[in-house]
Amino acid sequence: MINDTAYIRELASLAPIIPVIVVDDVADAIPLAKALVRGGLPVLEVTLRTDCALEVIKAMATVEGARVGAGTLVTPQDVTDVIEAGATFGVTPGSPAALVDAVLEANLPLLPGAATATEAMTLQARGFEVLKFFPAEAAGGIKMLKGLGGPLPGISFCPTGGVSLENAPDYLALPNVVCAGGSWIAPLDLVKAGDWDEIENRARAAAALPR
Ligand code: 3PG
Repeated sequence: MINDTAYIRELASLAPIIPVIVVDDVADAIPLAKALVRGGLPVLEVTLRTDCALEVIKAMATVEGARVGAGTLVTPQDVTDVIEAGATFGVTPGSPAALVDAVLEANLPLLPGAATATEAMTLQARGFEVLKFFPAEAAGGIKMLKGLGGPLPGISFCPTGGVSLENAPDYLALPNVVCAGGSWIAPLDLVKAGDWDEIENRARAAAALPR
């Protein structure tokens, strides 16, 4: 089995923010990925929330320097599909056992979703030490992560859900946060407008966040 923790930690080391991407036209995939990589965010989470998401993953995977993963994995079939499309890591909003089984079976590096101490401990027992804390703001935000850090110092998090350019520095300053995720860098309206310059600017600002 691949060393999931080392792989995910390496991804987290590449940039402080993982852009969460929703694209509904495959023609936008390559210019979007290029803008994000140019701006300094090479690790991309493409959500499985649109019909063309698998095609988007396939296209983005051809962009030099991009590390393309798939988000919103909810079923074992999703795991098979995204690997076939070329995703090199997965992200889940939550972590039911059957989904985690499928990911381990397929050897796909995973940022598994957790929002409580029990979920985090269950994942740690299965070998995952870097988790997506989701939905971060709604599930207790900074206070919750500080609370989890005391009894669970061996677990690190990538908070996602309600993270913004404004509150990201507070998350990134926590010792148990390795990076954060968010959709503000490439929101659908900017993607649909083809405003790659603005997306690149947002990526550059996110990439420069201290941690
Ligand atoms: C996710 O899929 O991780 C979240 O929907 C992203 O949350 P945000 O839109 O609040 O950044």
